[in-house]
Amino acid sequence: MKINEVYTMNCVEFMKEMDEESIDLTVTSPPYDNLRNYNGYKFDFDNIAHQLFRVTKKGGVVVWVVGKKIENSNIILTPFKQALFFQSVGFNVHDVMIFKKRNTPFMRSNAYTNAFEFMFVFSKGKPKTFNPIKVPTVRTGFEMLVTNRKADGKIKKVLGELKSEKVRDNIWEYAVGLGGTTSDKIAFKHPAVFPEKLAEDHIISWSKPNDLVFDPMCGSGTTLKMAKLNGRNFLGCDISEEYVNIAKKRLKSVYKQTKLI
Ligand SMILES: C[S@@+](CC[C@H](N)C(=O)[O-])C[C@H]1O[C@@H](n2cnc3c(N)ncnc32)[C@H](O)[C@@H]1O
Repeated sequence: MKINEVYTMNCVEFMKEMDEESIDLTVTSPPYDNLRNYNGYKFDFDNIAHQLFRVTKKGGVVVWVVGKKIENSNIILTPFKQALFFQSVGFNVHDVMIFKKRNTPFMRSNAYTNAFEFMFVFSKGKPKTFNPIKVPTVRTGFEMLVTNRKADGKIKKVLGELKSEKVRDNIWEYAVGLGGTTSDKIAFKHPAVFPEKLAEDHIISWSKPNDLVFDPMCGSGTTLKMAKLNGRNFLGCDISEEYVNIAKKRLKSVYKQTKLI
């Protein structure tokens, strides 16, 4: 198979054809407990987890974005079961992050509005790349800063410079819907697109330029598009031909935008 391509295939079969330890970063989102209808799919979670471990390089990362289903007022805890299974096949659970939806669509009459999904960050050993995204601090300049309390119990203050930025925390908030998730209208022919910025932020954080970024259930191709726009190579597949065609169209406009063809 060629890199910088997207294929119509069941991802388990696809990964079986891939070389061992060939992927630097996977950013993906599986179907959530039959929450949506994706043109009829076969979802073999255990084998997906095993194959992801096999194809991930040492120090590589898998970002698994997953929401939860509520059935008869009972939250189905599939995301946690999946995280435990990833750990059992050999991945470290490097972080459990939150994707907060700014304009959340899911109100509940007898509970607080459901505003987030999980972003599990699994790593094969210690992550080999981490480029932390920084955000501006509220205050900058010089200020009297408190030092550690000394043996006499007195608090001392010294003049120190406040840092102008700090590492972002692990709750990431994005607008969703047209203009938030993406401005590619065609992407919304897919029922569950995640925000381009979410994919981009993980790609920047856990990979380097020219690394190979994979999405085994790529849907409308968001991860692949953002990998290309950020100077990474990509590889994608989805079981649905209809979704692969959407991904191909989105990628084609990226190539046009960046004058790569
Ligand atoms: C949540 S969607 C992914 C959406 C994607 N992140 C995006 O931004 O468009 C999950 C996708 O998994 C695909 N899928 C389900 N089972 C699959 C399988 N066994 N192999 C490959 N793709 C599969 C579905 O067709 C669907 O497009």
